[in-house]
Amino acid sequence: MSETSKTALEQAEQEGKYIRKVRSFVKREGRLTKGQAKALEDNWPTMGLNHQDGLLDFTKVFGNDNPVVLEIGFGMGKSLVEMAKNAPNTNFIGIEVHRPGVGACLMDASEAGVTNLRVYEHDAVEVLADCIADSSLAKLQLFFPDPWHKKRHHKRRIVQPEFVENLRSKLKIGGVFHMATDWENYAEHMLEVMTAAEKFKNQSETNDYMPRPDDRPLTKFEQRGHRLGHGVWDLMFERKV
Ligand SMILES: C[S@@+](CC[C@H](N)C(=O)[O-])C[C@H]1O[C@@H](n2cnc3c(N)ncnc32)[C@H](O)[C@@H]1O
Repeated sequence: MSETSKTALEQAEQEGKYIRKVRSFVKREGRLTKGQAKALEDNWPTMGLNHQDGLLDFTKVFGNDNPVVLEIGFGMGKSLVEMAKNAPNTNFIGIEVHRPGVGACLMDASEAGVTNLRVYEHDAVEVLADCIADSSLAKLQLFFPDPWHKKRHHKRRIVQPEFVENLRSKLKIGGVFHMATDWENYAEHMLEVMTAAEKFKNQSETNDYMPRPDDRPLTKFEQRGHRLGHGVWDLMFERKV
């Protein structure tokens, strides 16, 4: 959100006007399983991060200066935990609004014994704006974001010009924004937004999509899609300046 629109929104809110913000998610009140609830209780003190604590100090949080990868909307966290397990010298931060997903992720993470992962249960747009320092991230990941199929819902898609501009400032120069989707129309939308965004360079030699890099684990859902002949599109853009 630009400073002007943010100020206008804040002013309207102070005046008691109700402004509906366009969000990329609908908060579902899914029930926690016993395992998820226990994982949250046991692991939140070591792995949970709170939006209201503001700007993060990565060195303090992780106890080292390893590169930091941030994932937006990790779902149940399966691929995020696997990535963290496979790359112990990289730090991972996951953001997800769906509480059962956060619980499931913490359950897997503690079973896998990973120590290089922290999570937020909050809107990623706000976490990025308020908690992540500029030019601090090695990589940003957005895997299979909600596609919002219907045309009238396309404004809810998280990949929008303003969002990617804000996100660029959080990457280090040379840092990469990696997206993946199984919805062709969303892949085209991502490519259009990212190609128009100056100061990003497409890493694809053909200036469109990339083969899935080995470090992005193949999800069960994706394997099934492959068998059914469905496509998956990976897009990787680097921060130029
Ligand atoms: C279709 S799911 C994909 C989950 C996972 N990345 C995967 O590949 O299985 C999209 C997820 O993004 C989350 N999400 C959407 N908008 C978000 C936001 N602004 N902040 C945090 N999470 C968000 C949703 O709650 C949902 O779990």
